[in-house]
Amino acid sequence: MKNLVAHDPWHVVQDGFDAENNRVFESLFSLGNGHFGGRGNHEETYSGDSLPGNYLAGIYYPDPTRVGWWKNGYPDYFAKVLNAPDWKTLSIRVNDVELDLATAEVAEYRRELNMREGTLERSFTATLSNGVEVHVESLRFVSLPNPELGAFRYRITCATDASVVITSAIQGDVVNEDSNHEFGFWDPVREAAQDNRTVVVSKTKKTEFVVAIGGSLTFAAEPEVEATTFTRSLYAASTYSLNVSAGQTIEMVKLGANVTSRTVDPSLVEDRCNQVLDAAETKGFLELLADHIGAWERNWETSDVQITGDPGAQQGIRFNIFGLNSTFTGDDPDLNIGPKGFTGEKYGGVTYWDTEAFCLPFYLATSAPEVSKNLLRYRHRQLGKAIENAEKLGFTDGAALYPMVTINGEECHNEWEITFEEIHRNGAIAFAIFNYIRYTGDSRYLVEGGLDVLVAISRFWAQRVSWSHKRACWVMLGVTGPNEYENNVNNNWYTSLMAQWTLRYTLASLAETDADSVPDVSPEELARWADVAERIYLPEDAERGIFLQQSEYLDKEMITVADLDSSDRPLNQKWSWDRILRSPFIKQADVLQGMWVFEDRFDLPTLQRNFDFYEPRTVHESSLSPSIHAVLAVRLGRLDKALEMMLRTARLDLDDYNNDTEDGCHTTSMAGSWIAVVLGFGGLKIVDGQLHLNPQLPPGWDGLAFQILHRSARLNVSATTEEITIENQSVTPATLFLAGGQLTIAGQEMVNVPL
Ligand code: BGC
Repeated sequence: MKNLVAHDPWHVVQDGFDAENNRVFESLFSLGNGHFGGRGNHEETYSGDSLPGNYLAGIYYPDPTRVGWWKNGYPDYFAKVLNAPDWKTLSIRVNDVELDLATAEVAEYRRELNMREGTLERSFTATLSNGVEVHVESLRFVSLPNPELGAFRYRITCATDASVVITSAIQGDVVNEDSNHEFGFWDPVREAAQDNRTVVVSKTKKTEFVVAIGGSLTFAAEPEVEATTFTRSLYAASTYSLNVSAGQTIEMVKLGANVTSRTVDPSLVEDRCNQVLDAAETKGFLELLADHIGAWERNWETSDVQITGDPGAQQGIRFNIFGLNSTFTGDDPDLNIGPKGFTGEKYGGVTYWDTEAFCLPFYLATSAPEVSKNLLRYRHRQLGKAIENAEKLGFTDGAALYPMVTINGEECHNEWEITFEEIHRNGAIAFAIFNYIRYTGDSRYLVEGGLDVLVAISRFWAQRVSWSHKRACWVMLGVTGPNEYENNVNNNWYTSLMAQWTLRYTLASLAETDADSVPDVSPEELARWADVAERIYLPEDAERGIFLQQSEYLDKEMITVADLDSSDRPLNQKWSWDRILRSPFIKQADVLQGMWVFEDRFDLPTLQRNFDFYEPRTVHESSLSPSIHAVLAVRLGRLDKALEMMLRTARLDLDDYNNDTEDGCHTTSMAGSWIAVVLGFGGLKIVDGQLHLNPQLPPGWDGLAFQILHRSARLNVSATTEEITIENQSVTPATLFLAGGQLTIAGQEMVNVPL
């Protein structure tokens, strides 16, 4: 854990140049707008350690699988959202020396992410190796209202008279650091440079996405010199040579257009790129910025969380909400949420179960239903591929196994124990349909696609189980549960519970839906599903009164995390995989994940017994782990423990808790932080379609406030240690349960309830 940034409610500030943690800060200062985004790399040349990253949503490359010994059924590739040509590139030479913070002497360095406005500001004074002192101020944003546009303003002042050569370029010769085999994913198509305008059109190898990245550089006061232009393969630049006097500030604006053939005909990407730049030039930097800030303001109106009394928690939760709203805006059903969003390469920028299991609740409560529905449509559009995926593994008759990792519907996870065995993802995808319908009331979605997915997943579960004569029930053999520190186990309670639930929900949904609009399912199949749901083995230990993570879990040595030496941690870096697999240690919530998903089924003593058994064995080495424990700890009234877990997830990246923020931020776990606060401390849940709230503040918090959208109501909920206030900001009345008691709040009314 590092102490990198001071606590501040709306800003993340880096005070002082820190080359050693540069990658961490690049991750923290990432900006995105759901369509493209990138790391907080410096605009000007930087030769120090850095991970450059400009990522375009959905633009990927199928990197061939790398394994030691091939097994039938392995995916051929791992999909990677590519590092794309960079629109920001700027080179500044002062008296023939490059401005490069890695070689200059840097003073007064400050970088600031303004989360309220979605901007990144930077200022520094640097003395170059030739003794010239320069002062720089920059302000950057990735436009929320204009999904293809990024912009920055850059001011440079030299302390002495100097000759300054400024080159604004599009640098297309970029690679992914985590490539499996090959470097160079981009083929050049065309480069253009004229006056202040530079465009590089390139094409991804294999997937053949055509991408045009364009830049336009304008000076606040037009310099008297003309631009000299230059192009080479995958590179286009405009260069200006100026003579400046001491103290004179050169101010320039660079606009960047990021256009892809995912949304525009491949032959038109360059035209579109020029149109985006023309329109942005006409509008001008300040108006573009004002539009962008306005869009962020509207975002915060529906998604902000305010915590008083705990500045660290406040900053953490806002940073997380900022990350989520920068990653997915929900206007395109072909896009999804990579575990690192636009902040790094790890996990390939592709889709995991994280979306349904962690991110969906955030978008449900903070955005219009259409946004969440697009996450469901994404899976519905990939149903054919999920059926093919199951067929490759030997399943038949329309059974679907959704991939553990995908971008286009094809499985591309490269480890057998996860690819073939971590099948609980199917349960999360099925549950998301129910979760969406119970929250929004949009039960039409069942006939619009929900039932197709549910039926195909139910077919999978019904074929995946086997009949055990010994146990006289259906068993689920050879699986990996959410706890990836055990593989190839039998009867993972969570997976089997999800299977049972899916079968029952599908049966009930089919029965409730007009027969003409439902997929064809034979009576024999229906009977089989009912039987599997009835007689599936869900292992329990009666003596301890707990559910068993898997049938043989109790054969393990029953030590706890407290028995480990600190030098053993993190296990995934210190222990052999073999030792981890045999140990009782749990990577992330597993049984407890199921108890959270179906929380209303279990009474508190049952939850308490399971929590007390499993949490002490959990090392939380997945960023997705602490948030679920936080919610359950709130339910158990253990508010201290809940706060510890909530902070661990909310400040995970800001404090570089796991020493891996340099790879990018944990975007999907950011949704876990929101879950910990709003579903945990806010007590939000939906029971029988009704909204329930039950705010409880942990020690040290003086207040908690959050906004939610539910059905036609827009509610502002705030709690202090003395009272709870709920303001209904919409015109229609809202009925809800507060701490178990039902109340109706008229439109535009507010109620106060003493605690
Ligand atoms: C977790 C998975 C998760 C993946 C991507 C892994 O470490 O164990 O549950 O899907 O990260 O976030």
